[in-house]
Amino acid sequence: MTGKLRKYAVLNNKGGVGKSTIAVHVAHGLALRGNRVLLIDMDGQNDASLFLGFTSEDYKKTFYDFFDRYKKTKVSECIINARENLDLLPSRNIDQINAELYRESRIDLVLKEKLKDLEDMGYDYVIIDCGPQRSKINDAVLCFVDGIIVPVQVEAASVRAIGNIYEYLSDLRLDSGMVSLIVPNMYDQRTIDGKENLEFIKEFFAGTDLLIQPVHRRIKITEAGKLGKTVYEFDEESSKQFDHIVERLVNIDAGEKQ
Ligand SMILES: Nc1ncnc2c1ncn2[C@@H]1O[C@H](COP(=O)(O)OP(=O)(O)OP(=O)(O)O)[C@@H](O)[C@H]1O
Ligand SMILES: [Mg+2]
Repeated sequence: MTGKLRKYAVLNNKGGVGKSTIAVHVAHGLALRGNRVLLIDMDGQNDASLFLGFTSEDYKKTFYDFFDRYKKTKVSECIINARENLDLLPSRNIDQINAELYRESRIDLVLKEKLKDLEDMGYDYVIIDCGPQRSKINDAVLCFVDGIIVPVQVEAASVRAIGNIYEYLSDLRLDSGMVSLIVPNMYDQRTIDGKENLEFIKEFFAGTDLLIQPVHRRIKITEAGKLGKTVYEFDEESSKQFDHIVERLVNIDAGEKQ
């Protein structure tokens, strides 16, 4: 695949809704379809890296190294290959990065500047896994990406918090149209609660084309993450849970390129 680099953040201010899981599987799914993908792990818990099987011992340089002005670290030095067509940019010291970003006067330009080399590295997609809380680093990510993928756990508290992403965008004076996809996650169609919450999400997004079919709760998805594998490598049946997300992204991007 060639063409314009597409940059997506996987973000929701709610914790534990499946951001890292969706980020990793979308990234791997796109890579398996022949796209060159860079996954950036921007969460201090490093779950995206762990879900791909990498611990902090597996990488020396990380996103944090760009913040040391004296080191002159290049992006390419911090990237490791994770799978065929899939690279990973890990991070550490997220709190220090946040503190550093408080000093930046142009938060909207920080990542465009620090990650500008990515434009020429041949990637088709950059997928950024974000931490749950509002933070300077998430502000910077939102100013950097073209679109946002929002996983929403099909459960009452997450469903109630569904509008938060729009408040966040509005506070940053960013366009609400940046929300590209809403992904209901951990859906259990056997429960009345699950059905009701999914219905609520459908009503909230009625009249838009943002909502896609839910990702069901599958124990194999949890197990794969613990083993540092994606379900594309672990359980073919569960991997089908992510195919429609990947297809939708590819279609959105094909539409925009026309
Ligand atoms: N569809 C699913 N089926 C089963 N387990 C899932 C599913 N989606 C996510 N999980 C599991 O739920 C847990 C939370 O998911 P994940 O870490 O992706 O959420 P998160 O939003 O990134 O959390 P955080 O806010 O802490 O970064 C993980 O153990 C993950 O394996
Ligand atoms: Mg996470």
